[in-house]
Amino acid sequence: MKTYSKILTLIILISLFSCGENQEIKDNNSAKSDNKLNKYLEQGQKISDIYFNTIRTHLIEKMSSNEISGAVEYCNENAYKLTDSLNKEFNVYVKRTSLKLRNPNNAPNERETDILNYYEQLLAKGEKLNDSIIRLSDTKYWYVKPIFAQGLCQNCHGNVGSTISEKNYEVIKKLYPKDEAINLKQGDLRGIWSIEMEEKTDK
Ligand code: HEC
Repeated sequence: MKTYSKILTLIILISLFSCGENQEIKDNNSAKSDNKLNKYLEQGQKISDIYFNTIRTHLIEKMSSNEISGAVEYCNENAYKLTDSLNKEFNVYVKRTSLKLRNPNNAPNERETDILNYYEQLLAKGEKLNDSIIRLSDTKYWYVKPIFAQGLCQNCHGNVGSTISEKNYEVIKKLYPKDEAINLKQGDLRGIWSIEMEEKTDK
């Protein structure tokens, strides 16, 4: 619960920040830290865009040239390889996680669970969700971005028998017997990008 309220406070600060009311955040952090938060926010945004576009491009490619099963296998074999190679490239730790998991290895940790629940609450109230940057320590920053279900996602995360064929779902179930990531409607919260960035020091 403690982490939760800490995250809440930070989110409020960050929302103020993203509305351009920099004054508020300067009252709570030094000007130098403001610049840092801003820098890591931008870096998180850039990295999540690259990841998302890479996955999306591959999915569309696979889905148009192969059957959905080819795209599912692509996801299964490559989701980790991709995050691993990009993690090395950027020297950050990137993860996609959710409250409704397909792959149990993507399970959220405590603070990810807290923020996912918080995002769900905001969504239920009809509020807009923003991405956030949170300082974890003097050198560690955490970027979080909500992931929404879109049209393309319905092929694998929608309804079995309507947007996902029974045949394709068999392929998914075989690879992910504990799958919970179905029945998502467009606009539902599918999960979050969770990106940890560590500042390099000369010491
Ligand atoms: C071709 C099928 C397919 C499509 C289309 C698809 N996904 Fe997935 N998705 C998967 C598979 C398979 C996994 C498990 C990957 C793994 O093993 O890490 C997955 C995992 C995820 C995860 C990680 C959390 C978890 O449940 O393991 C998120 C988040 C996610 N998908 C979001 C989306 C979004 C958003 C879209 C639409 C832009 C989308 N997916 C489209 C098949 C698909």
